[in-house]
Amino acid sequence: MKTAICPGSFDPVTLGHMDIIRRASKIFDRVVVAVMVNPAKKAAFTLEERMELLRKATAGMEGVEVAGFEGFLADYARMRGACAIVKGLRAVSDFEYEFQMALINQKLNSDLETMFLTTQAQNMFLSSSMVKDIASFGGDISSFVPACILGDIQQRLCKGGNKHE
Ligand code: PNS
Repeated sequence: MKTAICPGSFDPVTLGHMDIIRRASKIFDRVVVAVMVNPAKKAAFTLEERMELLRKATAGMEGVEVAGFEGFLADYARMRGACAIVKGLRAVSDFEYEFQMALINQKLNSDLETMFLTTQAQNMFLSSSMVKDIASFGGDISSFVPACILGDIQQRLCKGGNKHE
């Protein structure tokens, strides 16, 4: 049984993430969507909230499970018996960071491969930060996030003012 990890901040999950998760699930028997901490980013949603949104968004997707982990991705992959990390690549600007992470993860866990799936053209510009920015100004994010969590995201980003700073 081949397991892959789709790691990320998912703050919040977008249709771009969903496309990568769906395509990874066609290649691997099991895909663990790991909601993790990126020390370089200040999250607007808590780890639990991000996991809950992902659980809703991936409900019914065969072989896909959602988990949260604080620590090294390479260690988590080992714990879960995963042979690969799958990440989406949007543009050349993503590459340098992702390449560095792939090399670090290879160093920390030599049994682990990193695979990149190129994003679909319509998601090239899409990011969680952009979704948060648009939502915080009351803009329409309905074509950027799964329909089943649209209301949750809008409500959360409006509740008590803008939580994205
Ligand atoms: O969605 P993101 O923010 O691009 O995801 C980045 C993430 C969370 C996958 C990355 O920051 C990560 O792997 N964090 C866990 C800590 C880790 O293993 N860092 C690499 C060694 S320094």
